[in-house]
Amino acid sequence: MSDKLWIFDTTLRDGEQVPGCQLNTQEKIIVAKALEDLGVDIIEAGFPISSPGDFNSVVEISKAVSNPIICALSRAVEKDIEVAAQALKFAKKGRIHTGIGVSPYHIQFKLRSTPEEIIRRGVAAVKFAKQFVEDVEFYAEDAGRSEPDFLCKIIEEVIKAGATVVNIPDTTGYCLPEQYGGIIADLKNRVSNIDKAIIATHCHNDLGMATANTVAGVQHGARQVEVTINGIGERAGNTSMEEVVMAIKCHKSIPVHTSIDTPKIYKTSRLVSKLMNMPVQPNKAIVGRNAFAHSSGIHQDGVLKHRENYEIIDPKEVGVEESSIVLTARSGRAALKHHLDALGVELEGEELRKVYEEFLLLADSKRDIGRKDLLELVGKYLDESNFIELEKVTYSSNGEINATVQLKIGDQSLEATQTGVGPVDAVLKAIETLVQPQVDLEEFLIQAMTHGSNDVAKVHMRVIKSDKPYYGFASHEDIVLASAFAFVDALNKIPVKEYATA
Ligand code: KIV
Ligand code: ZN
Repeated sequence: MSDKLWIFDTTLRDGEQVPGCQLNTQEKIIVAKALEDLGVDIIEAGFPISSPGDFNSVVEISKAVSNPIICALSRAVEKDIEVAAQALKFAKKGRIHTGIGVSPYHIQFKLRSTPEEIIRRGVAAVKFAKQFVEDVEFYAEDAGRSEPDFLCKIIEEVIKAGATVVNIPDTTGYCLPEQYGGIIADLKNRVSNIDKAIIATHCHNDLGMATANTVAGVQHGARQVEVTINGIGERAGNTSMEEVVMAIKCHKSIPVHTSIDTPKIYKTSRLVSKLMNMPVQPNKAIVGRNAFAHSSGIHQDGVLKHRENYEIIDPKEVGVEESSIVLTARSGRAALKHHLDALGVELEGEELRKVYEEFLLLADSKRDIGRKDLLELVGKYLDESNFIELEKVTYSSNGEINATVQLKIGDQSLEATQTGVGPVDAVLKAIETLVQPQVDLEEFLIQAMTHGSNDVAKVHMRVIKSDKPYYGFASHEDIVLASAFAFVDALNKIPVKEYATA
């Protein structure tokens, strides 16, 4: 049996420090419960001394969550540690995470201290924390840029003082994988009592190395990884949980296993993204919208012949329904055939070749080729009466913000008015009211194309209907109209029978 790799999630502490990502206590509880459901071993719930809100969140998360260890951060300061201990009083299993800077930069320029004094303060903090909880983790801040002899010394002393976990952060994301792995190997080889504690990795992503460094740390003996969902965190972020967990799952040569229920990864990623207002970049490994989307002809052909030709992970393993074959001007005949088959149109040989030529012409002029375009290409015009058209959108904000939308659904023209927190919200709600049965709007991303005030807004949406995702895209100078068009675009990709059976 391989070793257990402890998954320490710091989305609610290091992740939540990101400007604009702050959550209230209720939202943090939702995330904490999702992390528990995902199988996380330790949840770092906050830094209690930093604010009454953080204190309260640690208290409430401790009450709401049963299985994971709840961890509270503190500096190597008695008051911090006392407050962390108070915040943990309802935790079924509580851990205090205390520590101090150990690099020459931190010792000299931040703490204006000496190496001896830093060891004394680190040891005192661990001993003080031990009065409150058995489980004390020590972080050696900026260990990535520390002197190896000094790092070994302080780690040995804090373990003597009772530290159960020793965290070796690459706080500034400076290390290369070989260096970071070397630091962990050094501790394993040179610290006489290292077997009495678990070594933890905590890597930042300033050079895009966080996942590689974390994996290197594990390969050299670390058995806890400190990670966040979607890799959110200070500056360029922390190590992303989904990347490390899947790297370990894919590479059986790394002798560890995790308790993460991987099919829950995708929905947890989307939950965190939505609550923290932090879009996931489309090409993000594992959870980006394009992570399982194939657009070039050679790849599409390969994937359709045998998925593993171009995919190392079955999307279902991380909770993504299926790989997608996106139709673009670079798509091949196999991809076109795949989409036509799905629409019940079976073409072969010369017929397929002709439609493919027309398809390429269309794809050159149109970015997103949908179902309606394909059916038009093969001469099977759809019964237009079944489609949803946006006929009118008006919105006003005299005190209350409301919007009126007129849709043509089939041969009926329907109108609805809704209020919202903003015009986009009001318009989308009005559309939702008219479309029955309702769909679940799961992802909504607005991007500016340039930087001027006359900017074009590009909207991407993902809606769920009967457990299947459908995507809508639109761009317009008016952000409200761009959102409305993107929503209607997604709705038009849902098979008409889904509406008819309502
Ligand atoms: O990056 C870091 O060093 C930290 C510590 C406080 C653990 O987040
Ligand atoms: Zn950090």
